[in-house]
Amino acid sequence: MELRRVDDAAALAMAAAGLVVDAVQARPDAVLLAATGETPMGCYAELARRAFDSSRVRVAQLDEYTGVTEVDPRSLYGWMRRSLCDPLGIDEDRIIRLRPDADEASACRAYEVAVAAAGGIDLAILGLGPNGHLGFNEPPTDVDAPTREVALTASSIESNGRYFAEAVPERARTAGMNLILAARRVVLLVSGSRKADILRRVLQAEPTPWLPASWLHQHPDAIVLADAAALGDATHS
Ligand code: PGA
Repeated sequence: MELRRVDDAAALAMAAAGLVVDAVQARPDAVLLAATGETPMGCYAELARRAFDSSRVRVAQLDEYTGVTEVDPRSLYGWMRRSLCDPLGIDEDRIIRLRPDADEASACRAYEVAVAAAGGIDLAILGLGPNGHLGFNEPPTDVDAPTREVALTASSIESNGRYFAEAVPERARTAGMNLILAARRVVLLVSGSRKADILRRVLQAEPTPWLPASWLHQHPDAIVLADAAALGDATHS
């Protein structure tokens, strides 16, 4: 796990966008695993401003609330479309969806089959949950946990409640830890003092199911891109 420090959220957005453009220049039809949430939004806005060829880029959805269809304001698919795919001209036929509506087993299986058929994930763009989750891989999550439906922890429900006026659903589907760890590169974006405590724990932890992001220590090319506020005193510990 490589830690890269940047000054602030604006610098984080620039650095993250640079990593995405690098991945696309290396492979024009790169498959991006794309988080929603607050943290990657600056990166996505910066990508929309950059001149690079996104005409073949493919995107896989990281997670979705069970039963929440795309017309619902809480739809993470809808959020990903608006923030990343539409500005870059990535149409539905280049998006791998994690469906909220089909039954759990077939939705998760179809997603994993589609990711495998696409050749796997080139770059996973992730945020860090206040409880150490990646996607909705909530603690505890085993290193080889597949794409599946999970019950959200109280921490995630509370944290994600700030995105919407509506109640946060209690169940969600998430790309598995297996799939995240198989990505050729992972970039974990962490911004703000709100994340300082959990980031310090992730950086210091031995890999453990109780801190899902700690599995990234086992990844051969995981970059933690964190701003000064998120690092707090972590760089001095
Ligand atoms: P955030 O969410 O980017 O909005 O902080 C991260 C997460 O909970 O996974």
